[in-house]
Amino acid sequence: MMNSVTRIACLTMMAMLFIPAAMAAGNPEAGAQKSQVCQACHGADGHGTNPTYPVLAGQHADYMEHALKAYRDGSRKNAIMSGMSTNLSDQDIKDLAAYYNSLEGLQDLSIK
Ligand code: HEC
Repeated sequence: MMNSVTRIACLTMMAMLFIPAAMAAGNPEAGAQKSQVCQACHGADGHGTNPTYPVLAGQHADYMEHALKAYRDGSRKNAIMSGMSTNLSDQDIKDLAAYYNSLEGLQDLSIK
């Protein structure tokens, strides 16, 4: 039987194992900071300031990561977004994707 001290020690060690995984995931608060430059076009709430600029609010994070990496590596071509994405790190992209995903936006039309 484990005593409570051993149990707490075990839980602490398990929690520490998960911290790197949590850091690797997107952080919406960090994404909000990093999104300031995006707001000029994609809007403060992720709804584009005019119809030329796609709505990012509520976008699936994995889609957004894919789109930003494609602009960055040139496989998706757009003069504006290629410039906007060149200096983004993988972590910036994850944070931005997590942030925009957290905003009220696209409707989930999947059958429940
Ligand atoms: C100067 C205006 C401008 C700024 C600033 C800007 N974007 Fe964009 N963004 C666009 C335009 C225009 C498109 C549509 C490009 C296309 O047709 O591929 C776009 C497309 C995108 C898409 C693809 C959306 C989709 O539905 O496929 C993503 C994701 C995106 N932008 C994220 C960002 C992020 C994150 C930032 C800030 C780092 C940013 N944008 C800054 C103008 C801008």
